[in-house]
Amino acid sequence: MEHDVTTLQTTAPDPGLLSRSATASYCTCYPGATVWLTGLPSSGKTTVARAAAGVLRQSGRRVEVLDGDELRSTLSGDLGFSREDRHRNVERTGRIAQVLARNGILALVPVIAPYADSRALVRALHRESRTEFLEIHVAAPVDVCAVRDVKGLYARRAAGQISGLTGVDAPYEEPLAPDLRIDSHTESVDRSVAALLALLAERGLA
Ligand SMILES: Nc1ncnc2c1ncn2[C@@H]1O[C@H](COP(=O)(O)OP(=O)(O)O)[C@@H](O)[C@H]1O
Ligand SMILES: [Mg+2]
Repeated sequence: MEHDVTTLQTTAPDPGLLSRSATASYCTCYPGATVWLTGLPSSGKTTVARAAAGVLRQSGRRVEVLDGDELRSTLSGDLGFSREDRHRNVERTGRIAQVLARNGILALVPVIAPYADSRALVRALHRESRTEFLEIHVAAPVDVCAVRDVKGLYARRAAGQISGLTGVDAPYEEPLAPDLRIDSHTESVDRSVAALLALLAERGLA
């Protein structure tokens, strides 16, 4: 049976389908890549990733933000905060990012990823598929992060209500050779975002 074209054209579209992905054309002039923002809680990972994503989308780039907090309550909801579970969380997130990136999407990943071997694994996964992986260290030190305390974690740790807080009583292994270090304790958000965008331009990724 043929479709009733008139009906199809006049039916009001579901607003949920009117996201950019359903309607707009995208710039496909750049390869996909994963940009991992690692750093302590409240260092500025999410802030920089979301602001950069906004700018890149404006210019038509396909971007996805894989935020640590969101993934922890969904995909990795079964995981805790042991060393092993933190590693698993980073590996899962890295595998998703790799699939997105190798299909032309710029995956921005603001996830603490405290262990160097977890980050190295994700880098290796990307290398296997010849997909760019950039490591950004969002480097505000723990004393600044504890004052910002966006989610109240440092206060809860100080009150003895939680333990195993990265940078306080759980390890954070700083990247030794990040592609970019963002001094999010001494510069504005705009400047940090500009530095990230400049790196992408320099690497031919935006
Ligand atoms: N240069 C900067 N980059 C990122 N965040 C900054 C910067 N300067 C100040 N901030 C502030 O630090 C806080 C960082 O919070 P958030 O991005 O949620 O941290 P994280 O995702 O690393 O836990 C925000 O309130 C943000 O406005
Ligand atoms: Mg965050």
